[in-house]
Amino acid sequence: MRHLRTLFDLSPAEVKQILATALTLKTRLAEGDRTPILPGRVLGLLFEKPSLRTRVSFEAGMAQLGGSSLFLGSDVGWNTRETASDFTRVIGQYLDVVVCRAKAHDRVEELAQFNALSVVNGLTDLSHPCQALADMLTILETFGTCSGKHIVFVGDGNNVARSLALICAMLDARFTLACPAGYEIDAPWLERIRSEYPDAQIQQVRDPMPAVADADAIYTDVWTSMGQEAERAERVKIFQDYQVNEALQAAAPKECQILHCLPAVRGEEITDGVIESPQSAIVQQAGNRMHAQKALLVWLLEPNWIAENVK
Ligand code: CP
Ligand code: NVA
Repeated sequence: MRHLRTLFDLSPAEVKQILATALTLKTRLAEGDRTPILPGRVLGLLFEKPSLRTRVSFEAGMAQLGGSSLFLGSDVGWNTRETASDFTRVIGQYLDVVVCRAKAHDRVEELAQFNALSVVNGLTDLSHPCQALADMLTILETFGTCSGKHIVFVGDGNNVARSLALICAMLDARFTLACPAGYEIDAPWLERIRSEYPDAQIQQVRDPMPAVADADAIYTDVWTSMGQEAERAERVKIFQDYQVNEALQAAAPKECQILHCLPAVRGEEITDGVIESPQSAIVQQAGNRMHAQKALLVWLLEPNWIAENVK
């Protein structure tokens, strides 16, 4: 029984295999191949917070693979109507895998501990592993490799930044976070990365301008994540020097890609002009959520298909 609670659940070889599978599935889909690899399999989507990309890309991806999915909103009573042990042992008899978007990361850990079904983190306050898989798929498509690439995240050391820092360490990419004091990636997460990946190249700096000088990709995310709405006014002030705008883009190499997990607050953490610039891979990156997650589902549920079809 495998889970994806955080990317620490995977080895670098497994991440590479999932990305290779995603490329194969994406190419085959473009050729019109929708071979049902997961017929009869059922995915549950258990969401405590809103979502466009995660929800729709998992549902669409599962449909393309010949399986089906069920959206499980607040009425199923996760964390409110019964214990986690009752909840997970019951859904484990109906579903093959559940994607959970939780306010608190511990709720996802709790569901997984019973090993009643595979549990995939669809975003928590701690991490966003499915996003990081799509991010590196985008880097891989653009540059042909992730190794040695320098990704500069400008903004908050949040769930998206944590997962990105970790996947960069796993794939030998360099990661720099440019953020205001007090908004770094937390020490326990960084220490765990450094202990599992001693060669990790991770830096945290204040000034985004010099950091992007040799960037292969500039990445940003909202300054106020879901659940932090009460801090919004304060965060807008604190992060005002961390906007990904035309001046910052001009300080980066010409071919530097622009990434954002979306949804974006245009005019806040990123300008319209940068989102719409030729270097922006943001829409492709959102599309890659589906391809990466299809690969993850096949990897979890039908690994033999990968052994037979992916080089
Ligand atoms: N990037 C992302 O996870 O988007 P959603 O919140 O719309 O799922
Ligand atoms: N950091 C953002 C990501 C949204 C996809 C949030 O948690 O709201």
